[in-house]
Amino acid sequence: MTIDEVKKRFHEIGIIPVVAIDDAKDAEPLGRALMQGGLPAAEVTFRTAAAEETIRTMAQKFPDMLVGAGTVLTTEQADRAIAAGAKFIVSPGLNPEVVQYVQSKGVPMTPGIATASEVEQAISLGLDFVKFFPAEAMGGLKTIKALAGPYNHMVFMPTGGVNTANVEEYLKSDLIVCCGGTWMVKKDLINGGKFDEIEKICADAAAVVRKVRG
Ligand code: 3PG
Repeated sequence: MTIDEVKKRFHEIGIIPVVAIDDAKDAEPLGRALMQGGLPAAEVTFRTAAAEETIRTMAQKFPDMLVGAGTVLTTEQADRAIAAGAKFIVSPGLNPEVVQYVQSKGVPMTPGIATASEVEQAISLGLDFVKFFPAEAMGGLKTIKALAGPYNHMVFMPTGGVNTANVEEYLKSDLIVCCGGTWMVKKDLINGGKFDEIEKICADAAAVVRKVRG
């Protein structure tokens, strides 16, 4: 997929679950819960050893799901994510080496930024879409609006501290492609096998997207 195709899907889905899975056996039931809950996407973070296998399983079992990798800090992790079937790569910060490497592989990359200088670095790498991380700690939508003043072609994926209380406000802004977050896929729910509950929280989140964006 091209970056524009991924961006379009991100916008349609609206909320991208940030998934940290400890045991890859949970990948299939979790993927099913996300699909049935109406959030057919996952940013599977490389913070856990099961990330690669989780991406592979979700990509194989759910071909319509937009499965990508998060917390990709090295080119080696990028290689593993892409080989496993990741359709996009996300990082919490902006490492030009990793961004250029992923771009050279023809895979969409969305690095994290939090300052004007980092936005300019993103622009110099040919990007117009970045993650804003950690969103709430860095001032939330107010900061995004301020950053978008001088860089008015940039759009954002806020992640970090986004939850049911503030997601609607983010989604209402034209500057927001989608929000990322863990609130619908909490570790205790995954580890406890509570996939019905995950599906319900996803359905509630998807309803907010529909309410705001129609
Ligand atoms: C991330 O991994 O991108 C964030 O840590 C997710 O943040 P949240 O847990 O506050 O949603």
